[in-house]
Amino acid sequence: MPDILNDYKNAGTVLQDAVKTLRTNIRFSSVDDPVKTIVMTSVLPHEGKSTLSIFLGIAMAEIGQKTLLIECDCRKPMLRNYFSIRPQYGLMDVLRREVTADKAVVHTPQAGLDVLSSTVLANPVEILGSERMQTMISEFKKVYDVIILDTPPLGSFIEAAVLASKADGTVLVINQGTTQMERAKAVLSQLEKAKAHVLGVVLNNVEMSSSDYYYSDYYYRDGRKKKRKHKTESTETPLNARRPAADTARTNETQGRNSKSRRITGVEEGEAK
Ligand SMILES: Nc1ncnc2c1ncn2[C@@H]1O[C@H](COP(=O)(O)OP(=O)(O)OP(=O)(O)O)[C@@H](O)[C@H]1O
Ligand SMILES: [Mg+2]
Repeated sequence: MPDILNDYKNAGTVLQDAVKTLRTNIRFSSVDDPVKTIVMTSVLPHEGKSTLSIFLGIAMAEIGQKTLLIECDCRKPMLRNYFSIRPQYGLMDVLRREVTADKAVVHTPQAGLDVLSSTVLANPVEILGSERMQTMISEFKKVYDVIILDTPPLGSFIEAAVLASKADGTVLVINQGTTQMERAKAVLSQLEKAKAHVLGVVLNNVEMSSSDYYYSDYYYRDGRKKKRKHKTESTETPLNARRPAADTARTNETQGRNSKSRRITGVEEGEAK
C-alpha cells in the first residue's frame, strides 16, 4: 500500500475525524445541488493541498462515494510520488484524445478512489481552462460521485481560479503559522471575482492546544503510538498533532448554494470579507 494511504490509515482518529468532518461539511453544504467537483487550493506552496486532496478522496471513497482525484497541479505534479505509481498515460493524453480516459485513470488500493495524474505541462492555464477540460470533467461526472481537483497555490498561479469558476465548490487550505491573513483575504477575493463557490477554509498543521490533551495518545505518521506528555517532548511532529482543524471548511448552509461563504476556521469569521 502506498505510504500516503498508510499515513491516513495509521494517522489515528484525530486526523481522520477532522477529514471526515470536512467530508461531511462538503457533502451537506448543498442538499439540493450536490457538490461533485471540488477544487482544492491554497495561498502558498506546501500548505497541504495534495495531502488533503488525497485524504478527502480516501474519506469519500470509504463511504461508497466513487471518487476521482485529478492532478491539476501541472507545475509540480506529485501524485505519482504520493501513490508510488508510474502510469503510462496522464491528463494531457486524455485531453489530446490520444487515449481514452480508462487507460489513463489508475485505481488505487483504496477501493473507490481513482487517480488521473499529470506531468509538467508548458501551458497549464490554457489547458486547464479549455473547453476540452470541461468536457472531460463532464464525462467523468457521469461515472464518479465526487471529483477532486488538486491545484497549484492560487497566491502564485491562476489555475485554481480558472477551475474554481466552473467547479461546484472550492476549499482553501491554509497553513497555520505560514499563511498571512492579508494574503488569504486576497486569494478569497480572487476566488470571489472568479465566481467560485467557496465552501470554506481548512486550517492545516494546527498545533494541538492544551484542550486537545483530551486525546492522551497520538501517533507518528508511521503508526507508532506515543504517549503525550509535553508538546515539546519530541522534535518530530506527529501528523495528527499538526492536523487539519476538526471543524474545517464550515459551510454556511443557511446562505444557500450560490452564496459565497467566508468562514475561516481558527481566524475571526468575517475578517476575510
Ligand atoms: N497536517 C499535516 N501534518 C503533517 N504534515 C503535513 C500535513 N499536511 C501536509 N503535510 C506535509 O507537508 C508537505 C507538503 O504537503 P503537500 O504536498 O500536500 O502540500 P501542497 O500544498 O500540495 O504542496 P505544493 O504547493 O508543493 O503542491 C508534505 O511533506 C506533507 O506530507
Ligand atoms: Mg501539491
